[in-house]
Amino acid sequence: MTRPTTAALADLIDTEARNDPDFDALRDSLGALKSREEVAERLLASSAKHSYDPDKVLDWDAPWEEGKWFWPPELLSLYDTPLWYQMSEEQRIELSRHEAAAIGAVGIWFELILMQLLVRHIYDKPSTSAHVRYALTEIADECRHSMMFARAIEKSETPVYGPNRLHHNVSRFFKTFSTTPGSFTGTLLGEEVLDWMQRLSFPDERVQPLIRGIHRIHVVEEARHVRYAREELRRQMKVAPRWERQMARMSCGGMARTFSEVLVDPRVYTNIGLDRAEAVAQVKASAHRRAVLQEGAKRLTTFLEEIGVLNGLGRRMWRSAGLLA
Ligand SMILES: [Fe+2]
Ligand SMILES: [Fe+2]
Repeated sequence: MTRPTTAALADLIDTEARNDPDFDALRDSLGALKSREEVAERLLASSAKHSYDPDKVLDWDAPWEEGKWFWPPELLSLYDTPLWYQMSEEQRIELSRHEAAAIGAVGIWFELILMQLLVRHIYDKPSTSAHVRYALTEIADECRHSMMFARAIEKSETPVYGPNRLHHNVSRFFKTFSTTPGSFTGTLLGEEVLDWMQRLSFPDERVQPLIRGIHRIHVVEEARHVRYAREELRRQMKVAPRWERQMARMSCGGMARTFSEVLVDPRVYTNIGLDRAEAVAQVKASAHRRAVLQEGAKRLTTFLEEIGVLNGLGRRMWRSAGLLA
């Protein structure tokens, strides 16, 4: 198989996406509760048409391009802070290299959790149903994604970042014991905000072509995951026992807090020669950063409000996590 260039890959994915009438509808969560099987059949059909093997379709041997970013500057944690204006252009690009690797590592961590949640979700369900077959397809997608992110981190020659020990272990408990509505709420939080960032990054010509290719593949395949999780969460908030629905409402605040804390490993600041405490404080105080996270979470918060997940204590915690105005 010949390897398409990044531009050719972009055209390929755009053309296929445009030609697929389901594609626009994938992210559309409005409308009536659809049958589980009907949704899964459509997602399986879309998976058959738009799935990519990153090892084959991306050019991993091309060197990084001089002067290009690894993440759009406006989406970097320190953008528009006083420190940002003291940094040289090289140091800012260096920040983007480390921050992209840190987000990639968190992406792998999310995906490992998600894979376990999906396996638990289908454990008692009939294995020939479309709903289960789609979950297995999604797990296969996530396996390819995690390997793709790991390969990108390795090529970036940064340390392997990730959540701290506390978040790592609290999430060990979550991925083992969470209820179904809680699991799908966590899934959407992990998927939708990063998806929003990657949608801005893949068309951005200032960004490294390999990173753009990675984001493009991820955006196309994640659209299905978001649809599956939204449909299932919408259903669960109607059919799950009352205590499970209540748990999802309460725990979503903790998830939002975890998300905002793990997104960028603060070791990136030390590794590009900044004072870690100062950088963390400036990110926390940054109005631009808050606006970015709130914008990234907006579609999700609107959806969670609509299906009755986001209220009370959980809602207040979303706000204190900086994900809600
Ligand atoms: Fe993924
Ligand atoms: Fe996903």
